[in-house]
Amino acid sequence: MRILLTGAAGFIAGHVADVARERGHEVVGVDAWLEAAHGASAERDSGPESGIKMVDLRSDALDELLDGVDVVCHQAAMVGNGVDAQDLPAYAEHNDAATARLLAAMARAEVRDLVLASSMVVYGDGRYTCPEHGDVPPAVRREEDLSAGRYDPRCPHCDGDIEWRLIDESTAFLPRTSYAASKVAQEHFAGAWCTLEGARTVALRYHNVYGPGMPADTPYSGVAAIFRSAIERGEVPRVFEDGQQVRDFVHVRDVALANVLSIEQVAGHPQGVTPYNVASGTPFTIGQMARTLAEAAGAGEPEVTGEYRGFDVRHVVASPAAAAEGLGFRARVTPHEGIAELATAALRTR
Ligand code: UD1
Repeated sequence: MRILLTGAAGFIAGHVADVARERGHEVVGVDAWLEAAHGASAERDSGPESGIKMVDLRSDALDELLDGVDVVCHQAAMVGNGVDAQDLPAYAEHNDAATARLLAAMARAEVRDLVLASSMVVYGDGRYTCPEHGDVPPAVRREEDLSAGRYDPRCPHCDGDIEWRLIDESTAFLPRTSYAASKVAQEHFAGAWCTLEGARTVALRYHNVYGPGMPADTPYSGVAAIFRSAIERGEVPRVFEDGQQVRDFVHVRDVALANVLSIEQVAGHPQGVTPYNVASGTPFTIGQMARTLAEAAGAGEPEVTGEYRGFDVRHVVASPAAAAEGLGFRARVTPHEGIAELATAALRTR
């Protein structure tokens, strides 16, 4: 198949291109090579020898490149949680306006299959049950609870204890950050395009992606890169809250495989957006992740600081069942193996 891959110079798309080529596909890579993501090396690396065409999706430069393309795999995005409200326009422009332009170009080129990089952040605080009230969206955590070290969210009806549950794809959207809002909007734009064009989208809602080549610590990095960079500087990981918050760390090679399976199968999906969670299926606490990484790197014990951030969600763990059923995707790298590998893997520096 001929694939147009956006964000091709980035961490995840680089692995998608490798797996796609291994499986015999032709990849046309495009990237805006934004200095904010690629730093001073952008100009040097974006030459023709990189094999990646310099295209800003906010321009109308895609028409020619879409000629003969079977599927678009859209990985280009501004990532992270957002630093402050001044980031809002950048998330809207890079993630939503750019996606809308891409979809319009796909309509002109009559390309009707899209694989979209989405995220678990669309679910916000996740899914919980209360012994008395059943399935509940958790109440937003209160400052007085967080400052007193009470980190678990409570039932919005009785203020009682609630337990986290695996999130499936029917769980309601509850975006809490600029990035999350932009990912929800991206899925909605794709849905509108599917209706207008009789097209199909597979939206892959990634859990916490990590692995070789991930960008080193920046204000927009996730926790795995932050911990790994701290160890490299000779510091120990600083674990926020009590370290018991649960995530799912999914290896970038598995995420790449999920993308290529989607590229190969999106045309067999019904019209509209079909979402799949992309997760390892092995929940890990942040404290456990920090210890596994520090131990493999021969670094000191992580420090549990009790710090907290207002926008953080407490526990988010996805069910990988639908992706297994719909795509035949099962993660191959366990977090124990993958996180130990990350301890010594090269990171991307800008
Ligand atoms: C992360 C990504 C988000 C992605 C999502 C997929 C970032 C910034 N966030 O969200 O883009 O879509 O995974 O599920 O890339 N923590 C520490 N110490 C630190 C930093 C963070 O203990 O120095 C803790 C946080 O308090 C939080 C957890 O680590 O509980 C995860 O934080 P982070 O990786 O920033 O965000 P996610 O919400 O998991």
